[in-house]
Amino acid sequence: MKVKNICCIGAGYVGGPTMAIIAQKSPEITVTVVDINAKRIAAWNDPDVNNIPIYEPGLAEVVAEARGRNLFFSTDVDAAIDAADMIFISVNTPTKTYGMGKGMAADLKYIELCARQIARIATTDKIVVEKSTLPVRTAEALKNILDNTGNGVNFQILSNPEFLAEGTAVTDLHKPDRVLIGGDLDTEAGREAIQALVDVYAHWVTEDNILTTNVWSSELSKLTANAFLAQRVSSINALSELCEVTGADIKEVSKAIGMDSRIGPKFLQASVGFGGSCFQKDILNLVYIAKSFGLEEVADYWEQVIIMNDHQKRRFAAKLVKTLYNTVSGKQIAMLGWAFKKDTNDTRESASIYVADYLLNEQASVVVYDPKVTEEQILADLDYLGTRSEAENRALIRVVNSAEAACDQAHAIAIMTEWDAFKDLDWNAIYSDMLKPAFLFDGRRLLDRKVLEEIGFDFYAIGS
Ligand code: NAI
Repeated sequence: MKVKNICCIGAGYVGGPTMAIIAQKSPEITVTVVDINAKRIAAWNDPDVNNIPIYEPGLAEVVAEARGRNLFFSTDVDAAIDAADMIFISVNTPTKTYGMGKGMAADLKYIELCARQIARIATTDKIVVEKSTLPVRTAEALKNILDNTGNGVNFQILSNPEFLAEGTAVTDLHKPDRVLIGGDLDTEAGREAIQALVDVYAHWVTEDNILTTNVWSSELSKLTANAFLAQRVSSINALSELCEVTGADIKEVSKAIGMDSRIGPKFLQASVGFGGSCFQKDILNLVYIAKSFGLEEVADYWEQVIIMNDHQKRRFAAKLVKTLYNTVSGKQIAMLGWAFKKDTNDTRESASIYVADYLLNEQASVVVYDPKVTEEQILADLDYLGTRSEAENRALIRVVNSAEAACDQAHAIAIMTEWDAFKDLDWNAIYSDMLKPAFLFDGRRLLDRKVLEEIGFDFYAIGS
């Protein structure tokens, strides 16, 4: 079967970029991305392509090429489901904030709503693709809902988890390490559905890089890939603390470790802690699944990755307070960067949020600058924590339009996101405008200690 019409439910950080690339590479397939968030859809349709709601290097160009040709964004979910022969579900799957599994399990309510909507609307056979990251065996629940509430049409469920990293989504999608497709390998219809999706990716991915597995392996591989990646970050961050007390330097240690070909050099960069919408929620989900099967040791093992990450964020903030003579009350702290990593405007679970919250509890006056994150987002992130009232947050924190403005008259600077532009700031001028001693805490190991110390900064970098 040749896919002619694709619908993707969820126009977020995954649905938007993945569908834009599928449309770009497959001009004969009509791709419609739908979302209940009308504001988001309006932004995807903004005549000025630079106003699309997600900042990713190269994405605006891809959207400009395909939008209106075979790529469409719409709020009419029903119509898009009806027209499609393949439906991707790419909605959010956050950690549950209520009830059973609160704080750990994935909240699948958005997924289930999609399944019920697909079942209600579909009057022709559909291939339903899990693009969201889901607990292992979710496809079973999806199939149950689809088969029991539908109009008697056939549904094939595939798992096709997304491995793109924010900040490099376009290159990751253009040249994926692998595309993973899980499906029912035991039936002819299952194998046909898998092949239909393989054919979509084969427009630009070589078949050697397209891996087909059973559905459960595919679902579980995504969770565990994220767990492995996060584990490396927590491992190197754990060593960064040891480096600080022993005189070893984490940069040298990670280079020495990473040159072992069995380990490899990537993801060994010490930092203020990982953020992003995925690592924490996916590991918590993995821990929850292990616990639900009674595998306590497996659960504890992976939970430690999160415990270490929380420690790293707290330790960075605590170090700052301690260095500033044990008090930051009334002192201006400039935070450079709010996004969870460079080249994205995504702030979910960013270490900045937790460090800012810690500093605000210490009554610091926090001033934030991020090149791509709005004031509205920064305040919303803090309000979401619920630590203090919205009015208190607004009284204590200020968001400005430049790094220089954030650092003017500051007691200390904290580098929170590794934006390239921060490397090229005029650090001499910034130093002159700060109160002395001028403290600089590099949470990303972005800057050159020697240069900064020569200017006069009291410089602290994670891990040395
Ligand atoms: P997101 O929150 O940016 O986007 C999800 C979108 O789905 C939202 O715009 C929301 O309005 C929409 N939505 C929710 N329920 C809906 C419904 N019933 N009908 C229509 N639209 C609905 O989330 P994001 O980051 O795109 O993540 C989606 C999934 O992909 C998650 O499961 C995530 O774990 C996974 N993932 C995320 C990656 C990332 O880097 N953000 C990478 C790989 C996987």
